[in-house]
Amino acid sequence: MKNFVYNIPTKIFFGKGQIEKIGEEILKYGKKVLLVYGKGSVKANGIYDKVVEILNKNGIEFFEVAGVDPNPRTETVYYGADICKKNNIDLILAMGGGSTIDCAKAIGLQSKYEGDFWTDFYIGGKKELIKEVTPVASILTLAATGSEMNGSTVISNTAVNMKVGFNHPKLKPIFSVEDPEYTYSVSRYQTCAGAVDIMSHLFEQYFSAEKDGFMQNRLIEGLLKTIIHYAPIALENPRDYEARANIMWTSSMALNELVTYGKESTDWATHQIEHQLSAVYDITHGIGLGILTPAWMKYVLSDENIHRFVDYGKNIWNLSGTDREIAEKSIEKTREFFTSLGCPASLSEINIDDSHFEEMAANAVFRGNLGSMKKLTKEDVVEIYKLAL
Ligand code: NZQ
Ligand code: ZN
Repeated sequence: MKNFVYNIPTKIFFGKGQIEKIGEEILKYGKKVLLVYGKGSVKANGIYDKVVEILNKNGIEFFEVAGVDPNPRTETVYYGADICKKNNIDLILAMGGGSTIDCAKAIGLQSKYEGDFWTDFYIGGKKELIKEVTPVASILTLAATGSEMNGSTVISNTAVNMKVGFNHPKLKPIFSVEDPEYTYSVSRYQTCAGAVDIMSHLFEQYFSAEKDGFMQNRLIEGLLKTIIHYAPIALENPRDYEARANIMWTSSMALNELVTYGKESTDWATHQIEHQLSAVYDITHGIGLGILTPAWMKYVLSDENIHRFVDYGKNIWNLSGTDREIAEKSIEKTREFFTSLGCPASLSEINIDDSHFEEMAANAVFRGNLGSMKKLTKEDVVEIYKLAL
């Protein structure tokens, strides 16, 4: 096992009514808050009103960035950073799903930086230039990305048709509220996309060519089984508290580094390949992953890495047979499960053709070849898009 430093500093307030804690927590950082939220779900389900009531009760002044897009944009980041700079904001409170939290993190970065966050960090990767950020906290309303507990942020730049992720420890939220009841209003489509995204995060960390990571992969299997068990229940009854609670906590555990501490390598190719699909077609991240993942699995499966598929097939889907049979069947099972949740099975089902494959593949590999199960070049990425057609 590799050396690692365990550091997951986000304080989580999990469960019904935990929102009441935010006043006291915010006051530890100051009295000026920037609220960041999406297109209206937090107004429809009462979370916005509740937050405003708590802020007022505690004498906390607030400013707002409303209307964050799913697949959040650079423009919104500059707009929010400007408000922070002009008003000396002490803390940014995101209310929503991954898009809102990611946007809040990017605002936090740009608000304390004189250069350009997109050029220097998302494209340039110059982490050493980050001295300070405005702290971010979140009220999670959609279980999917893990952004509520990690240092990642993914932003789209429509001027160049690119969607790029960036990660820095200073971007880990200082606290997050996870009240499963807030996810009762999440649509079937987004519940499916969230479940697939969580599973994809787990796959990206489970599938690596090395043979290490015994303990980490058993943890991952437990989390995968949780989603496989509870996602259909949440779809059947969106107000099932246990289902929503298990999915929500799994989303955080799946992408807060816990399951990869000590592992030799992770993969993350499917995410890079998907991000370029959402950049060009503005599709829902989890839906793109649901289409691409089985194609990626088929493409990378080889004699060198088949042991991972055999573990996956046996331990998750109770499969038996030769290694090859188990591996191939496990890929079919993955496709069948995603389809059962309501995820489209091909790019053509969502009206995507091959016209942008070259451009998307080039953007997917802009930092170099992808993955660890199999090193993927631009040409490989084009083949995976074709397999998903
Ligand atoms: O905009 P509002 O009105 O809030 O509606 C949102 C949006 O339309 C809606 N929604 C959220 N909570 C709801 C709700 N509707 C009803 N009731 C609720 N309680 O759901 C829609 C999608 O929201 P979004 O935030 O876009 O979804 P998600 O959480 O899946 O985030 C996706 C974004 O996160 C990035 C993705 O690429 C994508 O841009 N990712 C971020 C990661 C990270 N930071 O670690 C990792 C992921 O792999 C991912 O790349
Ligand atoms: Zn994801």
